[in-house]
Amino acid sequence: MFSEKLFRWYADYGRRLPWRGIDNPYYIWLSEIILQQTRIEQGRAYYEHFVATYPTVEDLAKASEEQVLKSWQGLGYYSRARNLHTAARHVAFDLGGRFPDRYEDILALKGVGRYTAAAIASFAFRLPYPVIDGNVYRFVSRLYGIFTPIGTDKAYDEFERLLLNVMDYRRPDIFNQAMMDFGSLCCKPVSPDCADCIFRQECFAHKEGKVEVLPVKQAPVIIQERYLYYMDIRWHESDGERLLVHQRQAGDIWQGLYEFPLLETTSPIKEDCLAERLREFLAESMGCPPESLMVGSRLRHQLTHRTIIAQFVGANYTSRPPKWPDNCRPVSWEEMKSLPISRLIDRYLSKM
Ligand code: ADE
Repeated sequence: MFSEKLFRWYADYGRRLPWRGIDNPYYIWLSEIILQQTRIEQGRAYYEHFVATYPTVEDLAKASEEQVLKSWQGLGYYSRARNLHTAARHVAFDLGGRFPDRYEDILALKGVGRYTAAAIASFAFRLPYPVIDGNVYRFVSRLYGIFTPIGTDKAYDEFERLLLNVMDYRRPDIFNQAMMDFGSLCCKPVSPDCADCIFRQECFAHKEGKVEVLPVKQAPVIIQERYLYYMDIRWHESDGERLLVHQRQAGDIWQGLYEFPLLETTSPIKEDCLAERLREFLAESMGCPPESLMVGSRLRHQLTHRTIIAQFVGANYTSRPPKWPDNCRPVSWEEMKSLPISRLIDRYLSKM
């Protein structure tokens, strides 16, 4: 009964999306990894870019990490792109290009959790695994009055058990897509369409006035602040301008991406000693002070668990400096444009 009503709603209101109505597990996997990172409208453009650039899992596997990061640029959370690349290489080179078709084997791929494994298993192979994303958590918690804080393993188990009881096993693909769409289009986070909802008679939250309370969320994690002082260091050589880029290393945000050399602190440097402090930093790390220094724009940048406060500082040298910090190298503007950069650096460059 539940599935029947849901399917009728989905036939009328479900979204037509490029990764629906297909059964290529590689394309479905790409779409799901991209959609974990962004909204549908923006995700569609990235999806189409990936499918066009890497039409098969072998194409993705054979690309360089830098190419893949460049394709991912703007989505953030670059470990997802690196995991995508690692998993593509595993499928292409260890599994002979055959995408796994069993839930456990899909789940074993790098970067694939229970949600993504269920999405691929159900959409590509019609295996009966419920997908539980934020939309499904919201819809189900309201409908059945579940107060377990969402997003935990315990909640996932509980919601999965419940959904296995109501899922239409003949079409787990349609069931899952319809659940996601219903949560996203009707059972919305704020001002859901309860007045027109086909489940209003049986909805716990609607009857009990708990729509605003559900789903229950976990206590938010504390957002850490990081202060990055980026040096936009330039000089001229006989064939044109050079700037210095820094490649980020393992074990921190933006691994492998390029940016400017930087000084990082956990609390802001006082305005009135900033120029002096940066001049000292440059004199020490570059072997001589810059000819001119200009403290420039400040950008606030939100990552999942961090707020980045970035201050950009222009520093000009008359000629190639004697040395530079580790993991830095001089590049031309042309080369800079081909390197994968964080969205923060992209924001700065596009403002210049
Ligand atoms: N968000 C994540 N996966 C999705 C999908 N397959 N369809 C719509 N929205 C999604």
